[in-house]
Amino acid sequence: MSPKLEKFVDRLPIMNTLRPRRKTKSGNYYEVRMEEFRQKLHRDLRPTLLWGYNRQFPGPTIDVKQGEPIQVNWMNNLPSRHILPIDGTVHNVDELPEVRTVTHLHGSETKPDSDGYPEAWYTNGYREVGPTFTRKVYEYPNHQRGCTLWYHDHAMGITRLNVYAGLAGMYIIRDKQEKALNLPNGQYEVPLMIVDRSFNDDGSLAYPDQPDDAADNLPDPSIVPAFLGDTILVNGKVWPFFEVEPRKYRFRILNGSNTRDYQLFLDSGQPFYQIGSDGGLLRKTVKMERIGVEPAERVDVIIDFSQFEGKEVILKNDLGPDADPEDRTGDVLQFRVSKPLTKKDTSVVPRYLSEIPSLNQNNVKTIRNLKLVGSTDEYGRPLLLLDNKKWHDPVTEKPRLGTTEIWSLMNVTGFTHPIHIHLIQFQVLDRRPFDLDRYNEDGQIIYTGSVQAPALNERGWKDTIAAPSAQVTRVIARFAPYTGDYVWHCHILEHEDYDMMRPFTVIDKDE
Ligand code: C2O
Ligand code: CU
Ligand code: CU
Repeated sequence: MSPKLEKFVDRLPIMNTLRPRRKTKSGNYYEVRMEEFRQKLHRDLRPTLLWGYNRQFPGPTIDVKQGEPIQVNWMNNLPSRHILPIDGTVHNVDELPEVRTVTHLHGSETKPDSDGYPEAWYTNGYREVGPTFTRKVYEYPNHQRGCTLWYHDHAMGITRLNVYAGLAGMYIIRDKQEKALNLPNGQYEVPLMIVDRSFNDDGSLAYPDQPDDAADNLPDPSIVPAFLGDTILVNGKVWPFFEVEPRKYRFRILNGSNTRDYQLFLDSGQPFYQIGSDGGLLRKTVKMERIGVEPAERVDVIIDFSQFEGKEVILKNDLGPDADPEDRTGDVLQFRVSKPLTKKDTSVVPRYLSEIPSLNQNNVKTIRNLKLVGSTDEYGRPLLLLDNKKWHDPVTEKPRLGTTEIWSLMNVTGFTHPIHIHLIQFQVLDRRPFDLDRYNEDGQIIYTGSVQAPALNERGWKDTIAAPSAQVTRVIARFAPYTGDYVWHCHILEHEDYDMMRPFTVIDKDE
C-alpha cells in the first residue's frame, strides 16, 4: 500500500514540447535520451527514481504537422540494472541484457523499420542489439490525419516494466482541417496522460515481484497477470489540480496505465463533448456523460467550465457500486475554475467535425476469426493468448498490401482485453454477445443477443479497442501503406509481455 497522499495539492504539469536539433532535407531531426533520474511526483513524496525520455515523466510532447516527416534518434542512456523486478523466464529474458529498449509510436502509420518491433531492442549506446534491430534513427512520415498518438517502450518481455518506470510520452499530429474548426487551442488545449502507480514509503515505485496468491514453485520474481496501482497520476503528478478559466478547454486524454481502465465522468454532472478518438476527429461531436478509456486508448474532449466560475470540478473514475471504500482511485484530477477569463471565449464545439469514409464499403478480402483465450503455464499461472498461439509461433496473419480485412475478436476469457493493431487505424463494425458458459462446456458459440453497433464515440478511427468478455468484437481495416513485419496485441502490458502478442506481416500484392 502506498503512503496515503493528500489529493489535489500539486499543480498539473504540462509536458514541454520537444525542439528539433536541426532541420534536414528529410525533415526535422530530434534527439531523445532515455535516462534514469529522480522526479517529485507529490508534495509529500520523496523524489521517485524513474526512467524517462529526456529526464522527464511523461516524456516531452512531440508536436508535428501532417505531411511533415520527422526523424527521431531514441538514445538509450540507461544503466545496466533494471529498477523493477524482472521475471527472467518470460521469453527467456534472463539470457538477454537486462536493460533493453525500443520505442514505438502508438497509432502511427510507420514503416516496419521505424515501428519499434519488440525484438528490435538495443542497450545503452547500442552495445548490444536484438535479432531484428533495424536502424538508430527512426522516421515518422506523419502523413496520417491529425490525431493524438503516444510513444512508449516496447521491448520484448519487459514492456510492462519499462513503461511503468516512466518510458512514455505524447505525440500530436495537427492538420489544417482541424485547425479550421476553431477548437480551444494554445493554453486551452491540454494533454492529459493518466496512469496508476503504487509507491513505497521512501518514494520509490512499487511493483509486485509475485502474484498475490503465489504458489511456491513460481519463478522469483514472477510476472503478475494484472497490475492495479492504488494512486492516480496525471502528467506525472499524483492527483493534481488544474486552475482553469470559466471557458471551454480541449483535453487530449490518454490512458497510459499498464492494466487499469477508467470510467471517466465529471462530478459537476456536466458532460464531455467528445470530438476525437485514437485516430483523430470523429464525424460528429458526441455528448458523453461517462467515457470508458482502456489502456492506450485516447479520447479527445471539450469541457465547458463557463457555468462553473469559482467552483471546483473533479474528474472522477467510476469504480462501480462494489468499490472498496479504501480504494482511492475514484478521483483523477481537480479542476479549479479560479482564473479570471482573460478574453472572450470564441472557440466552438462544432457539430460536424470531419469526413470518415466507411471501410464497410470496401471489398473485404479476408475475415479472420481470432480468439482471445486463457490457459495456464507450467507454473499454473494464467497465460493469455491470441488464437491459442504464442509470440514465437509462426506468423499466421498475413494481410495483403492495400486489401481490407475484418478481424473478428472472440473473447472467451472472463474480462475485457484492449486489442491494438500496429500500422493501421481500423473501424469498429459491431459487437455480439455469446454464451460463455456454453462455450466452456462444449466449445460452441451460441449468440445470446443481436449484433450491437459500436458506441457513438467508437465510430471514428481506432487503433485500440475494448474486446469485452463473452462478445465477438469485429473491426475492419485496410492494410496499407507499407509491407513488412508488425505486431498486434492486448494493450494490458502484463498480458502483452506474456504472451498476448502476435506478429503479423503485410505482404506484397503479388506474393
Ligand atoms: Cu502502444 Cu504495440 O503498442
Ligand atoms: Cu502501437
Ligand atoms: Cu489482455
